[in-house]
Amino acid sequence: MTTQELTLPKAELHLHIEGTLEPELILEMAERNGIVLPFPTLESLRAQYEFTDLQSFLNLYYANMAVLITEADFADMTRAYLRRAQAAGVRHAEIMFDPQAHLARGVELTTAVGGIAAALASSEADFGISTGLIAAFLRDESEASALEVLEALLAMEAPIIGIGLDSAEVGNPPSKFVRLFERARKAGLHLVAHAGEEGPASYVTDALDLLGVERIDHGIRSVEDPALVARLVAEQVPLTVCPLSNVRLRAVNTLADHPLPRMVEAGMNVSVNSDDPAYFGGYVGTNFAALEKEFAWGASVAQTLASNSIRSSFASDARKGEMFAELDSWVAAQG
Ligand code: ADE
Ligand code: ZN
Repeated sequence: MTTQELTLPKAELHLHIEGTLEPELILEMAERNGIVLPFPTLESLRAQYEFTDLQSFLNLYYANMAVLITEADFADMTRAYLRRAQAAGVRHAEIMFDPQAHLARGVELTTAVGGIAAALASSEADFGISTGLIAAFLRDESEASALEVLEALLAMEAPIIGIGLDSAEVGNPPSKFVRLFERARKAGLHLVAHAGEEGPASYVTDALDLLGVERIDHGIRSVEDPALVARLVAEQVPLTVCPLSNVRLRAVNTLADHPLPRMVEAGMNVSVNSDDPAYFGGYVGTNFAALEKEFAWGASVAQTLASNSIRSSFASDARKGEMFAELDSWVAAQG
């Protein structure tokens, strides 16, 4: 990796905090919490990181969450991510967590939210990264379950800025969650949803029209529908693309086959993100480096992608202004 990808000031908009649990930290937390994992050594655990599709990854991702027990575990995981994000040039991060996955294991909302929020509260001071927290709901669970958890988050005044929709996409369309998104909109929350990762382009259209989302997570299968592409360009709908994730989960065969260059060329509002960096071979700087190696785009496309990430964030206009100024300085320094 050159220093260019790391110094490029950027926002990360698609990041699952549980997907930042590195194998070393999983084993350390298992040890301190007295949890016996099915793969108790680094070697045996690392051997599980070959995925055939989204579900094969989700199985390991949910299993590894078993080590997250205390507020300190959630705070440590979050700080470890922020440290790595800082090294990757991230200035603002919008971080998803999966409350239902923790509740299902008997971990209270206050534990998960309290630990993550504690780390985020000092993120600007500790790492120079402004943050926002997004509660992501599991689309392979019922809407009633999601609504119940959203009400609990609202009742405890959890410091969330929005809701998202993640987990197994195919067979769990946006139409299943119309009431959930209506409730979140009424509560003044931002709305995002995974769509068009493994699922069809029509899920992207439905996430926009039925759920009213402001951003689409992934959205790569949009390119299969020219009318949708034209709409996404016209409306400048942000798509938070995660190239290394798509390769590792076999949404694309190789990085060379990734639709991102076509999406950039078409004028779509795409950003580059890491999704679950501990599982997919690297943080956002590594994603940028892999793209540069494959497509040799140079500084101007990197600037466009970083600029898209800043304008598509839910940061305040003042914060966006600061980040744009930093990006301008970066561009000037490229010569
Ligand atoms: N949960 C964590 N990572 C995910 C992804 N890439 N797609 C859907 N759900 C997820
Ligand atoms: Zn994701």
